[in-house]
Amino acid sequence: MDVVDNILAKEELSKDDIIELLNITSSCDLQRIFDKADQTRKEYMGDIVHMRGIIEFSNHCARWCTYCGLNAKNNELKRYRMPVEEILETAKKAHAMGYKTVVLQSGEDNYYTIEIIEDLIRKIKSEIDIVITISLGERPEEEYKRMKEAGGDRYLLKHETSDKELYKRLHPDMKYENRINCLKILKKLGFEVGSGIMIGLPGQSFESIANDILLFKELEIDMIGMGPYIPHPGTDLYKDYKEKGYFTSDVSCDLEEMVYKVLAITRIVTKRTHLPATTALATTNPARGRELALTRGANVVMPNVTDRKYRNLYEIYPAKVCTDEKPEDCRVCINKRICSIGRTPL
Ligand code: 5AD
Ligand code: FES
Repeated sequence: MDVVDNILAKEELSKDDIIELLNITSSCDLQRIFDKADQTRKEYMGDIVHMRGIIEFSNHCARWCTYCGLNAKNNELKRYRMPVEEILETAKKAHAMGYKTVVLQSGEDNYYTIEIIEDLIRKIKSEIDIVITISLGERPEEEYKRMKEAGGDRYLLKHETSDKELYKRLHPDMKYENRINCLKILKKLGFEVGSGIMIGLPGQSFESIANDILLFKELEIDMIGMGPYIPHPGTDLYKDYKEKGYFTSDVSCDLEEMVYKVLAITRIVTKRTHLPATTALATTNPARGRELALTRGANVVMPNVTDRKYRNLYEIYPAKVCTDEKPEDCRVCINKRICSIGRTPL
């Protein structure tokens, strides 16, 4: 057996094994990794592709994340907030379109107090039968607890990178330890917990990505969102990107291919997790990104169900796909894409 076969035959992969796989570039070896990921997905998660409708209800954000277009310092962006009634209406529309889950997502916007959020969750739960994923960033334990008690089912909070030094550069106003602690609290409270990373960040090493993958496993993360870093000219990190490019200087690779590789290895290592084909990946490759991800480990897609009038304002990175489409368009489009590869949308 050669090195790749040897690693892929193991029940558990070590950090060195993961780094070895991350360094592979030959198309034949890559295909073996993708095939193994697809088999693992089929064995543990089946052929269903779960559709989760995202409602981006506010683009206000108090944080300074240096990669994200919504960061508080970006004065160029027109900001919006959807009133509770409108969020509720959007959730109902998503439900009527067939979505079984809605994701309530915003920047870190303290305008939405815990009382408002509780009220929103309760109203949605009392009017429609739908799973609620919440993604509002870091909040105190007490507030997470109240969201759970109000009927929240899942919580998404990406840790973005486990490299502490890089984390600091990405989040000058935040602490890595707090982030990880939030994930642990959410898990303890009984949420299904989602995390994730960006791939290709300037200064990011393959070793840190291997650490990320092992951390997902250690924290028993239920859903893992991974997409390419897409440089946004209106952010501070853009300067780093201009100087260093993607990753560390000793690494050169095709970013899109790297994302599939990380996705596939994450499937092989974590086995029974939900892995979305992310919007960022679809932005990098609008024609085939989602389909390729779904055949290389992914089993979830998260179409946007936000009204068209808000879409281009949720500009976390430039040229995001689907900002001109209506919610119904995306549902139909993604349904077709899932069926075209012989899978079953749900
Ligand atoms: N490129 C790619 N992904 C980004 N995100 C934010 N900014 C960017 C960017 N420039 C992702 C982060 C964040 C989510 C809301 O969007 O992973 O958690
Ligand atoms: Fe929005 Fe295809 S998913 S148009």
